[in-house]
Amino acid sequence: MKRYVCLICLLCATAGVLRAETGQDAWLRYAPLKNSVRAKYASLPAAVGVIGNSAVLNSARAEMIRGVRGMLGRTLRSENEFPRESAIILATVDSLKSIAPNLIIPEIGKEGFWLGGVNIRGNLCLVVTSPDERGVLYGVFGLLSRIAREEDIKLLHETQFPSAPIRWVDQWDNLNGTIERGYSGPSIFFENDNVRADLSRVSEYGRLLASVGINGCTINNVNANPRVIQDEFLPQLARIANAFRPWGVRLGVSIDLSSPQKIGGLDTFDPADPRVSEWWKKRVEAIYRYIPDFGGFTVKADSEGRLGPSQYGRTPADAANMLARELRLHGGILFYRAFVYDHNLDWRNPKNDRARAAYDIFHPLDGKFDDNVIIQIKHGPIDFQAREPVSPIFGGLQKTRTAVELPVMQEYTGQQRHLCFLMPYWKNILDFDLQSNGASTLVKNILAGKSFGTSGGGYVAVVNVGLEPNWLGHPMGMANLFGFGRLAWNPDLAADDIADEWTRLTFGTEQKTVLTISNMLLRSWEVYESYTGPLGAQTFTDILGSHFGPNVEASERNGWGQWHRADQNGIGMDRTVATGTGFSGQYALPVGALYESLQTVPDNLLLFFHHVPYTYRLHSGKTLIQHIYDVHYEGTQRAEEYIDQWRSLEGFVDEQRFWQILGRLEFQAGHARVWRDAICNYFQKISGVRDELNRVGNYPDRVEAEGMQLNGYTSVAITPWENASGGKGIDCAVSQGCTAVYRFDRGAGWYDMDVEYYDLNDGESNFRVRVNGQFIDEWVANNHLTARKPGADSSSRRRIKGVALRPGDEIKIEGIPDRDEHAGLDFIGIYASK
Ligand code: GCU
Repeated sequence: MKRYVCLICLLCATAGVLRAETGQDAWLRYAPLKNSVRAKYASLPAAVGVIGNSAVLNSARAEMIRGVRGMLGRTLRSENEFPRESAIILATVDSLKSIAPNLIIPEIGKEGFWLGGVNIRGNLCLVVTSPDERGVLYGVFGLLSRIAREEDIKLLHETQFPSAPIRWVDQWDNLNGTIERGYSGPSIFFENDNVRADLSRVSEYGRLLASVGINGCTINNVNANPRVIQDEFLPQLARIANAFRPWGVRLGVSIDLSSPQKIGGLDTFDPADPRVSEWWKKRVEAIYRYIPDFGGFTVKADSEGRLGPSQYGRTPADAANMLARELRLHGGILFYRAFVYDHNLDWRNPKNDRARAAYDIFHPLDGKFDDNVIIQIKHGPIDFQAREPVSPIFGGLQKTRTAVELPVMQEYTGQQRHLCFLMPYWKNILDFDLQSNGASTLVKNILAGKSFGTSGGGYVAVVNVGLEPNWLGHPMGMANLFGFGRLAWNPDLAADDIADEWTRLTFGTEQKTVLTISNMLLRSWEVYESYTGPLGAQTFTDILGSHFGPNVEASERNGWGQWHRADQNGIGMDRTVATGTGFSGQYALPVGALYESLQTVPDNLLLFFHHVPYTYRLHSGKTLIQHIYDVHYEGTQRAEEYIDQWRSLEGFVDEQRFWQILGRLEFQAGHARVWRDAICNYFQKISGVRDELNRVGNYPDRVEAEGMQLNGYTSVAITPWENASGGKGIDCAVSQGCTAVYRFDRGAGWYDMDVEYYDLNDGESNFRVRVNGQFIDEWVANNHLTARKPGADSSSRRRIKGVALRPGDEIKIEGIPDRDEHAGLDFIGIYASK
């Protein structure tokens, strides 16, 4: 009997470590620690005492109890009075001093915290304190994170404070519940043009944000619906603010600058018109009546069709200050986005350059913005591309508070389908020295207000969490949200440290898990870049549509200004002062000179600054064109390797997340190959220079679907041609289904088979594979991709391993369409099993 009990205990213990997880707890899992580790925390006091009473302090207390219960299996005694025993004390510095006036507490920056062991009234206490309540909450999260990562807390004496005052996230949610560039389900805030009845996910989100020190959230699309600030909506907004408040997260909204005209009944929205400012004054007052701690407005104006002050000959400073003055009276902030540019540029003019826009428009206004205006600047001069240089306007605003805008939502970096951990990229940006005024001016110091002596700006991330249980669709995508918060708090952290921290909190501290996942994360940005936009080409994606699959020409010959200027001779934008658009002259001289010269420009930004022939030799000695081929093959290979790396963690990660992530990585590997083939074929054709290794366009293991024996299926041309193998696919418009047959003609043996099929968003087709009539595999096309037509956005791979084949065997694919998805196929690949 005893033995059975022990066995059951053992099973429970294992199940405890690997209990199925949806990912909803993200990095705040508080998973039970092993008994051997728990011993480290044996001396942790049994009581938690909170001095003071407020929503934020109550969250801090609840979190402390929750964390200790989860990890150590003990429930702390909760005290409202100052405990007469050894305790964990949560208090602001002022309230702590009122109880223990002689206590020596180190200097702590605003919203920072101190963790330390002290003797109060004869009892040894573990103190979490801060000048403000938010900092106490952050301190609790800091302490619990240490325990979760199994660090010692015995001799704690640690002070931390955030690098900058602004640490916000922007959600691009629409009031109807959809999300602009959202890839993980509907909005947690809105549905059917109202705030959702159930806001439980909003409080959970607030908790996640607070745990990494984020203190504000703008909840709606920058392409704002004016209704968000109408009277009838304000009580609803107040409900969201109430859900965020216990976590110290201030609510903000994006506004439409033309609101006075659109919803206010005025015939103008001219910021200089007193009727307009009066209208805004009343709106701001109404908002603060409902939400006394309202954070402020975000403005996207004169950009991508949004109306703005230019309509009246006014500047961004005129518009921003008019709003900022009303907000300041109540403690609010005005975020004005520097993403202002003309999207109808004449592409024929080689001097036109969208990259110049932010500097050209905002630099002359430096010094003209009020102190509660933050100019919010995308990290690069274009738009969240796979690689861009740092936006020069960070160096061009020296009397203005600025914040960097960073894309957690991976719009151009794989949309949470591809693994792409952006910390190494963001570190490059934050550590970049713009050398303004002949001195060192690192971007992170500019944001902190240190370089130019402003009162400090900070960090804003675009984060499109949705109702999916794991928030971002890809559990690994959450590493970017975590990392954003950590960097905003402390930009000196290394990418490796953030990867390590996140992995331990999210998947546990087993060394194999930590090393495997950290390695995958840390190389993933460059892997992604290598098959989607190498050498500073930014991105070869379809910029007119999904921003997901390849389409080189979508960037060319239109007004959007994301040109590659690729023709039969060469590629790249000439942004030099000498012969190009002059963009490189927007940087301080040493930086500008570095980019201006072909001798010194780094290879990874070559095409951002220069137009060169395909035969141009890189610093590596390779020709440009051969480099393009090679990195696409290498990157695809590395994406393929993720699969085995991840598989090696079977049994180390709970099943639910294990299989979900494996599914994403398998999709990525297949999609990387789609990218590789499209880009390499495109450039081989346009340049006329063949791949030295003869890989491009040469796929001996592939059988084109359109070349199979078709029954019901018809051949269709795919546009652009490079987005399908052989330029074509097959489509089944017969509701009962269609078949495609191929007679195998190679030697007998074990083979792996890839079926490349089209997974559209409006239907769930069924596929079945038979060999000589014997059932081999079946699946449903339900990857929930956003694509509406067969092509590179929808192309998906089904890998069937270990199929025994002999010459003459009949391989049959049966496809049954569903609604507008026509069970489309591109090709099958048949490879000898390894
Ligand atoms: C990108 C994105 C848009 C978004 C815009 C912005 O262009 O594709 O959806 O509105 O950025 O940042 O304002």
